[in-house]
Amino acid sequence: MPTLNDIRSTFLDFFGQNGHEIVPSSPLVPRNDPTLMFVNSGMVQFKNLFTGVENRDYKRATTAQKCVRAGGKHNDLDNVGYTARHHTFFEMLGNFSFGNYFKEEAIAFAWDLITKEFGIDKDRLLVTVYHTDDEAANFWKKYAGLPDERIIRIATNDNFWMMGPTGPCGPCTEIFYDHGDHIWGGPPGSPEEDGDRFIEIWNVVFMQNEQFADGSMTPLDMQSIDTGMGLERIGALMQGSHDNYDTDLFKTLIEASAHATGVDPYGDQNVHHRVIADHLRSTSFLIADGVMPSNDGRGYVLRRIMRRAMRHAHLLGAKDPVMHRLVPSLVSLMGNAYQELGQAQSLIEETLLLEETRFKQTLDRGLKLLDDEVSHLSDGGALPGETAFKLYDTYGFPLDLTQDALREKGLEVDTDGFDTAMAEQKAKARAAWSGSGEAADATVWFSVADEAGTTDFLGYDTEVAEGQIVAIVAENTLSDVAKTGDNVQIALNQTPFYAESGGQVGDTGILKTDTGIAKITDTRKTAGVYIHIAEITEGEISKGQGAELIVDHGRRTSIRANHSATHLLHEALREALGEHVAQRGSLNAADRLRFDFSHTKALSAAELKQVEQDVNTYIRQNSPVETRIMTPDDARDLGAQALFGEKYGDEVRVVSMGQKPDSGKGNDGETYSLELCGGTHVRQTGDIGLFVALGDSASSSGVRRIEALTGAAALDHLSAQDDRMMDMAGLLKAQAAEVPDRVKALLDERKALQNEVAQLRREVAMSGGGQSDAAKAKDINGVSFIAQALQGVTGKDLPALIDEHKVNMGSGAVLLIADTGGKAAVAAGVTADLTARVSAVDLVKAAVAELGGKGGGGRADMAQGGGKDAANADAAIKAAEAIVETSK
Ligand code: ALA
Repeated sequence: MPTLNDIRSTFLDFFGQNGHEIVPSSPLVPRNDPTLMFVNSGMVQFKNLFTGVENRDYKRATTAQKCVRAGGKHNDLDNVGYTARHHTFFEMLGNFSFGNYFKEEAIAFAWDLITKEFGIDKDRLLVTVYHTDDEAANFWKKYAGLPDERIIRIATNDNFWMMGPTGPCGPCTEIFYDHGDHIWGGPPGSPEEDGDRFIEIWNVVFMQNEQFADGSMTPLDMQSIDTGMGLERIGALMQGSHDNYDTDLFKTLIEASAHATGVDPYGDQNVHHRVIADHLRSTSFLIADGVMPSNDGRGYVLRRIMRRAMRHAHLLGAKDPVMHRLVPSLVSLMGNAYQELGQAQSLIEETLLLEETRFKQTLDRGLKLLDDEVSHLSDGGALPGETAFKLYDTYGFPLDLTQDALREKGLEVDTDGFDTAMAEQKAKARAAWSGSGEAADATVWFSVADEAGTTDFLGYDTEVAEGQIVAIVAENTLSDVAKTGDNVQIALNQTPFYAESGGQVGDTGILKTDTGIAKITDTRKTAGVYIHIAEITEGEISKGQGAELIVDHGRRTSIRANHSATHLLHEALREALGEHVAQRGSLNAADRLRFDFSHTKALSAAELKQVEQDVNTYIRQNSPVETRIMTPDDARDLGAQALFGEKYGDEVRVVSMGQKPDSGKGNDGETYSLELCGGTHVRQTGDIGLFVALGDSASSSGVRRIEALTGAAALDHLSAQDDRMMDMAGLLKAQAAEVPDRVKALLDERKALQNEVAQLRREVAMSGGGQSDAAKAKDINGVSFIAQALQGVTGKDLPALIDEHKVNMGSGAVLLIADTGGKAAVAAGVTADLTARVSAVDLVKAAVAELGGKGGGGRADMAQGGGKDAANADAAIKAAEAIVETSK
């Protein structure tokens, strides 16, 4: 008996051998369609190929596509567990033609696969066609030889397939299997069609139209094929059942649930195991594709599914969390076909455990409240909306969980009353918020959040996605359209653009709609709404339009590298300097990173080098960067570094990277860096490339700052340094390695030469004009006096020269004026025998006054001063001579 894994392979191989590209499943979160909550069929990833907007190098494809139907147009959540074939998660097998083959070949492929490859009995097969589609009916007759009574014409939408409210669509033909008259039910189109006897196994859609939001439908240029076969259904059939939960895969999961709860898998509690098995698949695959439980949007659908499963585990009497214990079974069943499941296993387990632990705290009390209320209800009455709202608000019961619980008792909820209670609470919350004094310009974003919900961030997994424009704001006012040249702020229901936070700068890029283009220059967020700061560069952009969002890839890549490097830097600093190092701020921009941390003194060159080397060691280790979700307390217990002063919600993302080597202290294999962080990171540390610390400086008291570069910027920096080194070597005519010794030798030589030059200058000055001191000296008023204006000496040389003159003269006075580039330095000396008559201070003062300076001073035997006009040296000498002249 073929397993589901065998059947999937047979299907893909069959179409692969018939010229189809085997394309991997797309993630469950649609990146190319903002109107869909989750990918709900195989054709979603090919939507733009059908409409001709996109071209790929294949015209035929085949997939096994992960699908979730738990919200929006196709929502099966409420039925799951109670029926044989409803699922929140299922796999859709499909073959696709993009303007290549059409009806005839599609019907032939389908018939051959089912009857030849799968070996299903022809006599049990019948088909439906759209009532006007004679062509399809004729092909069935011709190729499959089906008689008219087994080609049933259907006039309803059952045979006209649409993906959602808009998009490619067309009439379809469906293949049914008759399980035999021992099961109740009638053929399609009959009043008994909902029975389990005749089961649809394959839907083949003839894609030939496109539906638009305004209700109009036009023919597509090309005719294409989209098919969908539920793997679980065909699996059940080929394994001899009409119940999907009887397949090998579901039996294994149901038995795992039975094992974990200790409750008979196939007894009267079977429905609970079925719910758990189904919901385990949808929750695990959603988490693997980046959805996290939250109170909005996709995250809330995930939370609803998780909590529904948890209530059913509770009904099985489970005291402890169950769901996370079933993940290994799922991974061993499906991990081969879907690698992402194994890669996210620990994240899935932790997320389930966390949600279940938290929900258990209120589940018992909520269920008791529900029981009390129900006991007061009359038969067929409805649970008051207020009670359902209280269960939602206080006990965390999603509305459909309450409905599910009541369904077993044949009761309903007053949903209008629930909506009213919800609206009242929102109004109160808004009133409370607007009184809290937040910036006025945030008001508009709170109203956007209220009306359109918060933004789903897709940017952990993708840099390109489509979103629907939910608000355009110009100067704080909502607007419906923005035109070329306008500077506006745009919000969408989902976006791959990261909004500035936690030190990581906002993304930039391009937003395109059918009618215009905007340049996104920054992204911020308020009230959970991502605000794209935009300048319209072409055409116009309107509210409600679908938009393609393209993040500037190169810039984001650098930002990622800088952010991940910051985490490694933080840990390297803690290891080098001590546990007191805590983050005080950071900037992760595209061109550099900056990290502020608590530490009181400057880093030594050796410390900085050590830190830089450590970061580079972990970059070369190329370990995967992993993200997990947990409570802030658990994260701290694990030793995660939290940001100083940040507020955290119930759940935090913990980003880890690097494995410590064996240090002999038994810590080998331990995670190196573990931080609470909402930012975007590289996949492997090796993606950072290279880390260069530019230096350490003081940021504020007790806080140091390191600025650094990574990747190409780091390499550019090093290569510029290298260029400078080569220039230097060239100038020195030396090898680069010899440069330091050569520079040191040059500096020594320079010092020696300076000394020599100073000595020579003194000698020249002393010998001034070749005369001896005796010849130079004038006798003035009985005092031997030398006065000289000198070139080529500095003020610093003068005292030594004065002393020398005094020694030569034995008795006398000296005045020396040095011309230092137009300015003058002046010094005077008087031998001790004469100081009582003439003071050197007076001589200097008299000279300084002529030289355009002020003051001058020292002792009677030696004084100094300066002025700005060396040209007046003669007048200065005369003034000094006058002092000597009049001395007594
Ligand atoms: N897109 C079609 C379906 O989902 C094949 O049934």
